[in-house]
Amino acid sequence: MNYRIFPKTGEKVSLLGFGCMRLPASGDDSEKIDEAEAIRMIRHAIDKGVNYVDTAYVYHGGKSEVVLGKALKDGYREKVFVADKLPVLSVKSREEAPKLLDEQLRRLDTSHIDMYLLHNVFKKTWETVKTFKLLDMLEEKRALGLIKHIGFSYHGDGLPFFKEVIDAFPWDFCQIQLNYMDAEFQAGVKGLKYAASKGIPVVIMEPLKGGKLTDAIPQSIQKYWDGIDVKRSPADWAFRWVADFPEVLTILSGMSTFAQVEENIGILSAADANALTDEERAIIGKVADEYNKLTPYSCTACKYCLPCPVKINIPNLIGMRNEATIFESTEKVAFSIRNFVRPMPSACVACKQCEEKCPQHLPIADIMAESAAMFECNNR
Ligand SMILES: NC(=O)c1ccc[n+]([C@@H]2O[C@H](COP(=O)([O-])OP(=O)(O)OC[C@H]3O[C@@H](n4cnc5c(N)ncnc54)[C@H](OP(=O)(O)O)[C@@H]3O)[C@@H](O)[C@H]2O)c1
Repeated sequence: MNYRIFPKTGEKVSLLGFGCMRLPASGDDSEKIDEAEAIRMIRHAIDKGVNYVDTAYVYHGGKSEVVLGKALKDGYREKVFVADKLPVLSVKSREEAPKLLDEQLRRLDTSHIDMYLLHNVFKKTWETVKTFKLLDMLEEKRALGLIKHIGFSYHGDGLPFFKEVIDAFPWDFCQIQLNYMDAEFQAGVKGLKYAASKGIPVVIMEPLKGGKLTDAIPQSIQKYWDGIDVKRSPADWAFRWVADFPEVLTILSGMSTFAQVEENIGILSAADANALTDEERAIIGKVADEYNKLTPYSCTACKYCLPCPVKINIPNLIGMRNEATIFESTEKVAFSIRNFVRPMPSACVACKQCEEKCPQHLPIADIMAESAAMFECNNR
């Protein structure tokens, strides 16, 4: 495993971090984590040198923290940095936040959280942080040793707001979404470099765009990969693009299978900073342009939008909507939706609770209306 240095303490952090948002689960119910397999995967990663694990209050309906806590028994806790996040969107009063932290410590069954983040910072949650003076609260908890380092995960609009947040507090670290498709989205590469210029190390989330960069590859993309002399998997290229930036501290991947854990350990044991050639960077840039051209809605299937009050599987439907365009397969998608998907998109009541939680800020109610019109019409 490759390691990078956490500047505040000089400690080594593995270049691959284990994101516990997409643990193996049975069927459509993300709360039903396959515990034995998840624990086997997490421990295997740690045995192979991964020393950074990332969870959040909301992942797997609260079960991610619990399963991670179990995985870290038997001497594993001492081997890792545990990252967890305060669910700012749920905080409705100053008193509530410390209770949430207590609950997280209980769920993880640990005395402290190493890396504690304000979760999903954007304009609205940032106002909550300021109104309830949550950073003062976090400093108090740090003084008590309940958390070690304070950071935030960013899903706000663009670079200027990211800079405002970076400049507002002496952060120990921050976390941004970065992959070759999102080089200029939210904080983007410029945000990465800005944070680093202030001495703030950056943790990367969604390096494979939630797996979208490794799903079935459209032909127009495959032709670019085939054009590079070195043969690598799409996941390999995507990770190497991120690892190429020396400003990156660790790259989180939400691995769902043991094989993915194995592959990603291999990739991030080999990937180095500033290692891509100019030609490779140029081709990855073309792949990014093509994906951005092909993809109508930039969903990463993070499931933050769920649960839906009328039980629509929103990420699944947006994935199908995208697939219809990417693979020009509207008829096929319509057949699947009409025969196998319940509730269908027309069940959407446009309450927009999901839109408030979506880190990509997608117009989900409009997408459901569009999908209903595209796919549910009987004369297809
Ligand atoms: N703070 C925040 O606001 C926030 C938001 C998002 C994520 N996060 C954190 O960041 C972590 C990383 O984000 P992410 O889960 O979106 O990471 P990601 O690496 O972009 O996506 C993970 C998905 O990619 C696919 N994948 C992984 N390795 C693969 C491989 N070798 N080959 C083919 N496909 C592969 C899998 O999809 P399939 O299962 O479809 O195969 C997996 O579920 C999360 O787990 C979470 O801990 C935080």
